[in-house]
Amino acid sequence: MLKFLSWTRWPSSQERRSFLARFATIVLGGIAALFPFAAGWSVLFDPLRRRRDANGEANAAGFVRVCPLDALPADGVPRAFVLSTDVTDAWTRVPNQRVGMVFLRHVAEGSNPRILALSAECPHLGCAVTFAAAENRFECPCHASAFGVDGREIIGPSLRGLDPLPAKVVTQNGQQEVWVAYQRYRTGVAERIPVG
Ligand code: FES
Repeated sequence: MLKFLSWTRWPSSQERRSFLARFATIVLGGIAALFPFAAGWSVLFDPLRRRRDANGEANAAGFVRVCPLDALPADGVPRAFVLSTDVTDAWTRVPNQRVGMVFLRHVAEGSNPRILALSAECPHLGCAVTFAAAENRFECPCHASAFGVDGREIIGPSLRGLDPLPAKVVTQNGQQEVWVAYQRYRTGVAERIPVG
């Protein structure tokens, strides 16, 4: 009771100075502690931030450089390419990893070339299709599915045509390059359901 009464009286100037000094110590100590915490937070989450920023517009949209435009036959015959890129998984960067295979066709000439990109993964069960030039069609060696040069299904157990992929022509340093956004889809079904 005596102690309670002692705190109910108006504090002396010395007590007020003591309280303000302790309060200032706590506030300044808290601010000082925030600096290393903020630095640690930045280091911890920096890879995630860099991953979102990516390197330029093309990478940010998932596009991968495949080849110079003039590497594609002008007569529209498809050509197969392996897609490789640096794979970044938060804190780990693995250079030059194979992500898939794609057939590219140069289907239009002129100032606005059009590229048809088809995944080389058979939609039936995922074998790699090849292009049979004599028949002008894609063929799967596993269960004999066949696809037209435009990717549509012709025969075989595959329930859909070859999967088209977004492609674009990018001009860099005066050279036209073909970029493709690779995407895998679920096999064995008629719908295109993205995987991963
Ligand atoms: S995996 Fe291509 S037809 Fe079966």
